[in-house]
Order: sequence, then C-alpha cells, then structure tokens
Amino acid sequence: MNDQTEPAIDAKAVNKSYVSGDTHLHVLNTVDFSLSKGESAVILGKSGSGKSTFLHLLGGLDTVDSGSLQVAGRQLELLKERGLERFRRTCIGFIFQSHYLLDDFTLLENVYLPAVMSGFPKKESIESAKQLISQVGLYDRKDHFPRRISGGERQRTAVARALINEPELILADEPTGNLDEYNSRIVEDLLFSLVETYARSMVLVTHDISMRFRGTQSYELYLGKLEPYV
Ligand SMILES: Nc1ncnc2c1ncn2[C@@H]1O[C@H](COP(=O)(O)OP(=O)(O)O)[C@@H](O)[C@H]1O
Ligand SMILES: [Mg+2]
Repeated sequence: MNDQTEPAIDAKAVNKSYVSGDTHLHVLNTVDFSLSKGESAVILGKSGSGKSTFLHLLGGLDTVDSGSLQVAGRQLELLKERGLERFRRTCIGFIFQSHYLLDDFTLLENVYLPAVMSGFPKKESIESAKQLISQVGLYDRKDHFPRRISGGERQRTAVARALINEPELILADEPTGNLDEYNSRIVEDLLFSLVETYARSMVLVTHDISMRFRGTQSYELYLGKLEPYV
C-alpha cells in the first residue's frame, strides 16, 4: 500500500449519470484519469460540467455507476460504507468552496479536532495544528473564532485543516470560488506550496482559467469527457 510506484489515483472508464424524471444526464462518460504520488492536477470546467461529481467520486462521497476507481491504494467500488468513511477520514483532505469551519470552535480547535477524532494523541495533534496554522500565516489568530476572521483567512484555516491528518490526497473543489482576486491568489499559493512541502497529491477543480497551469497536470472536463488541457 505504501509502494511509491503505485499511483495516487487510477481511474478507468468511469461512468456517472443522474436520472431525474425522464431526463438522463450522463455527467461523466468513460473517464480515464491517473495521478502519480506527489503530482497535482488542475481540472478546469464550466459550471455544471461535472467537476464536483468527479471529485465526490474520487473522495468516496459518491459511487461510480461503472468503471474502476483506485485511490490511495483502495479500490473504491469494493468498499462498503464503513470502509468509505475510514478512507475519507484517513486518506483524503477535502477543501470546498465554503469553509465549513465549526463556528463554536477556535481556529486551532477547528484544525486539530479532526486529528483527535482520527485517534491521534491530543498533545501531538495540537502541536501539528499549531505548525500548520503558522504555515498559513494565522498563528496570532489561532484562538479566534471563525466569525472574527475574513473569508480569505477562513479558507486558509480550511487548508490547514485539510492537511492535519496527513492525507495522501487533497481534493479541492473551487477552493477560491468565494474569494476576491487578491485573497484567491494567497490561498492558491499556500495550497500549492503546502501540497509540495508535504509531498501530497492533489486534484483541484475550478472554473478559474488563471489556475490552469498551476499543477503538474492540466485537464478540462467538457461534455462528460476529461481531456488534457493544452
Ligand atoms: N444528485 C444529483 N442529482 C441530479 N443531478 C445532479 C446531481 N448532482 C449533480 N447533478 C447535475 O450534474 C451536472 C454536474 O454537476 P456538478 O458535478 O455539480 O458540476 P460542477 O461542479 O462542474 O458545477 C449538473 O448538470 C448538475 O445539475
Ligand atoms: Mg461544483
């Protein structure tokens, strides 16, 4: 499972459709995708092109209709709900457009609690959280509550939280979608630099074309197909 030659992601002929009423929406049409460990892919796509759908499949939040999906050494279509829950908690760091920080907890608590919930000792978790919070430039705000900080700072906290459990793969769904240009660049720079520092793999989906070449690979999702972006 820790074999360095094993890819972080190996997706083959993945299909996903939604049926509502008599409409059949083929969102992902025979998608192949692979990502080596330590690589980061940026997937561009317009609103409704299936970016979130694909990321949810990679993160075990939804299941494929057909095809094979291997992520972080797990064959996802073979996992039951408990296995998927464990996979999400231990292998994946999610970052969404909305930060989903817990309002009643400080920034430090928001970052270290997922580690404690995953069974890491509390003291060690707090130390790791302090280091990550300092790396996203918020050490002096660590005892503040999310409502007292700006949108950009909340999203930087979400970046720190996504890394706390040492996930093999970061999945980022429009992580700068709610931010202004200036804060977008700050969050984007932090995200790519921390993913590199910690040698994580990442798939980032966005409609923001300015990010297209930030990763080691660029793709576009269009009409159900995932193609290299050139
Ligand atoms: N649970 C669902 N049921 C029915 N249709 C869905 C569902 N989730 C997404 N869709 C549809 O699938 C398409 C792709 O959605 P999504 O993956 O959210 O796109 P994106 O993230 O690129 O904006 C959209 O047309 C959306 O309306
Ligand atoms: Mg989306």
